[in-house]
Amino acid sequence: MKQMLNVALPKGRLGEKVYDMFEKAGFECPSIKEKNRKLIFENEEKGVRYFWVKPSDVAIYVERGAADIGVAGKDILLEYEPDVFELLDLDIGKCRMAVAAPKDFHDDKSKTLRVATKFSNIASTYYKSVGRDIDIIHLNGSIEIAPILALSDVIVDIVETGATLRENNLEVFETVVPISARLIANKSSYRFNSEIIEKIEKELANQVEAKND
Ligand code: PRP
Repeated sequence: MKQMLNVALPKGRLGEKVYDMFEKAGFECPSIKEKNRKLIFENEEKGVRYFWVKPSDVAIYVERGAADIGVAGKDILLEYEPDVFELLDLDIGKCRMAVAAPKDFHDDKSKTLRVATKFSNIASTYYKSVGRDIDIIHLNGSIEIAPILALSDVIVDIVETGATLRENNLEVFETVVPISARLIANKSSYRFNSEIIEKIEKELANQVEAKND
């Protein structure tokens, strides 16, 4: 049986954009566009097998070698620090990690700052770098509610359009880091399948460049 390259795609709107880039790169798999609930699709002739996983799980599949390559947000790579190669910034899925708070927030430096977030590692690293003492309150979603109910002083979260913050009367106080989707590879797959992975990397890099010209 032919060796297939396993590709983990983030399920959702971003994943569809990513698949379109792979298709344009010459690694199409038409059955993926059929409307059904299947999660695995392959094109044996091209030697690729795609599967949809939760965006935050892509790096786990790639790190453990269940996927040879995949596409993950920089937020996930910074938060979980998976042992993978980061090959390319795809320049899509762009947003930023930011500190946000109610409009009237003033940072009282004499007090420990209470920070609600899904991204505890990113938040800790950021506040350590600016020398600020904090208390992390780890939440799994609806982070914007935390300062409204005085569970925290600020939040560290992803801001894309800013609509979620606006609708909850919060505003950005600082940008922690810009975020975008990255092509990642399993470290040993990259050595053993370098030919096909490098081809994909190069084709995708050309698309990113063409877009920015
Ligand atoms: C993210 C983030 C914000 C929202 C920001 O959540 O946590 O809630 O997007 O986007 P906006 O600036 O365009 O309003 P996401 O939709 O990824 O869902 P999640 O909370 O399940 O991670």
